[in-house]
Amino acid sequence: MKRIFSGVKPTGHLTLGNYLGAVRRWADVDQHRADALFCIVDLHALTVDHDPGRVRRLSRQAATLLLASGLDPRLCTVFVQSHVDEHARLSYLLECVATDGEMRRMIQYKEKAARERERGGSVRLSLLTYPVLMAADILAYGTDEVPVGDDQTQHVELTRDLAVRFNQRYGHTFAVPRATRPEVAARVMNLQEPTSKMGKSDDVGPGVVYLLDEPDVMRKKIMRAVTDSGQDVVHDPEGRPGVSNLLEILAACEGTDPETLSGAYQSYGALKKDTAEAVVELLRPLRERHKQLCADPSYVEGVLRDGAAKAREMARPRVDSAYRAIGLLAAG
Ligand code: TYM
Repeated sequence: MKRIFSGVKPTGHLTLGNYLGAVRRWADVDQHRADALFCIVDLHALTVDHDPGRVRRLSRQAATLLLASGLDPRLCTVFVQSHVDEHARLSYLLECVATDGEMRRMIQYKEKAARERERGGSVRLSLLTYPVLMAADILAYGTDEVPVGDDQTQHVELTRDLAVRFNQRYGHTFAVPRATRPEVAARVMNLQEPTSKMGKSDDVGPGVVYLLDEPDVMRKKIMRAVTDSGQDVVHDPEGRPGVSNLLEILAACEGTDPETLSGAYQSYGALKKDTAEAVVELLRPLRERHKQLCADPSYVEGVLRDGAAKAREMARPRVDSAYRAIGLLAAG
């Protein structure tokens, strides 16, 4: 059976981008067709300026939202990264295989480091080594597939390179994983700034639909989305990023494709209205289930406890053999 691994970082409230780009597929498809693990990658949330209490709250909320989205602990493993030491253990070994040049070439590092410097802050070393920890997350489980949105493709490519390099130098230890992406909405854009990704760490709230926004707030954000000059509804992400983003979102909600949809609309107003209703309807069951789960926090805690125990068992033998392969003496 195929092994699937993916994760979400608790640096902000989960967005429509996270859902359409990744989480929906985990619940609807991936957990049913493979041995799948889904992880709240809290160690990754410490790579930028953070508030400890907020990271803890967001980790709990992310876990609750993953379950509300339909992840079923009878079908897959849901856990928190810091509960399984193997991630950090393997990350160090992979730091001894990766180079600093590779890290500095990562687009997300360049963007985030520039943002930190603009704010007058300093760049944490862990931001530079972030992709190595991500590679450890994936490789520790012998992962075949990593279902992610477009922005993570470069990190998964690096993971492949590290796996191949480790295997060549020290003997076959890791499966070489590949990224899988959704056909539509692999990169949902910010509604106010449709040339940038809809990101959960962005503070620009009006352009970001959060999964826990009230329906009326979602409607308002979508109705106020920036569109492009011109009036015809065409799918052209380069020339018409605003309207193309709405078409992608609507197509993802309706299970169709943006080109087909574009012919059905004569005005931006009608497109926005239908998109707003489709998003509200798509997320309605998730919001309801989230409310129920919040009333029973011990259920979520139990899922995370069992998930961590299972994950530990799956990761430990592979990480132990990596320790031996790279030249470390076994402890008695
Ligand atoms: P994160 O937390 O930023 O995002 C979680 C998932 O959501 C996808 N995504 C999007 N998809 C489409 N449009 C968007 N606007 C959008 N924003 C986010 C992301 O591509 C991702 O699939 N580095 C990862 C977390 C991670 C990870 C891993 C993922 C750590 N270790 C191992 C997979 C495997 C991240 O920051 O995701």
